[in-house]
Amino acid sequence: MLKLLKHNHTTKKIFQVLWTRRRLLLSDFQFYMTDFGSGSRFSKNKKKLLRVVVRRSCSSVPKSILIALIALRKKVRTILELGTCIGLSAVVMGILNPQARIITIEGDATLHSFARRIASMFNQKNIIFVNALFDDVLDEILDTYQPDFIFVDGNHSRDATLLYFRHICDKVSKDTLVVVDDIDWSQGMREAWEKISCPRVRKKIGFVKFGIVSLK
Ligand SMILES: C[S@@+](CC[C@H](N)C(=O)[O-])C[C@H]1O[C@@H](n2cnc3c(N)ncnc32)[C@H](O)[C@@H]1O
Repeated sequence: MLKLLKHNHTTKKIFQVLWTRRRLLLSDFQFYMTDFGSGSRFSKNKKKLLRVVVRRSCSSVPKSILIALIALRKKVRTILELGTCIGLSAVVMGILNPQARIITIEGDATLHSFARRIASMFNQKNIIFVNALFDDVLDEILDTYQPDFIFVDGNHSRDATLLYFRHICDKVSKDTLVVVDDIDWSQGMREAWEKISCPRVRKKIGFVKFGIVSLK
């Protein structure tokens, strides 16, 4: 698994991701962001500073690496990410999983276009960016792509999380790992994690920050 990180080209790209995130954390850029689902715990204002969004909503690079390595270990072919943010997590998954294609969905148009630009900066061609609401495209994407790794990382509300999980169980017909982020983020997310189940669940393991469900 760590062979890939030993690969010079891969390591260089990961350092570039770290550097890009650091640069974005200094950005003064402001934009209007649509607040979907459970919204932000911190601010309901729609005008946002990019650096605040990156710090609060986008995964740290070590966390993205960890998620990407879990996918790599399973040698997955198709990764679906619900919630692109600025796309660095998708880029990390793409770098560390060259064998896979990554489909990532983001409702906010500005973040979506940032993410596309970032991926093209990295010349990362195995990522498909979708600008849509999860509810509008999830079923079609599950049907079409049959992902074997799904990172649920947006709309952290109890009901939405349970609904997405139900759709995943209904639509995906092969062995799949589902990573649910922020299972301890709120009472609603704790309840959602407790209740997540379906006859296809083989294993369910909760960590502090996220949980993994293996479907058969
Ligand atoms: C926590 S961030 C994603 C972080 C990203 N996966 C990462 O690891 O850096 C959640 C993203 O999901 C988007 N989002 C939330 N609810 C959504 C919905 N119902 N449809 C589409 N996008 C949504 C938000 O705009 C936000 O950018």
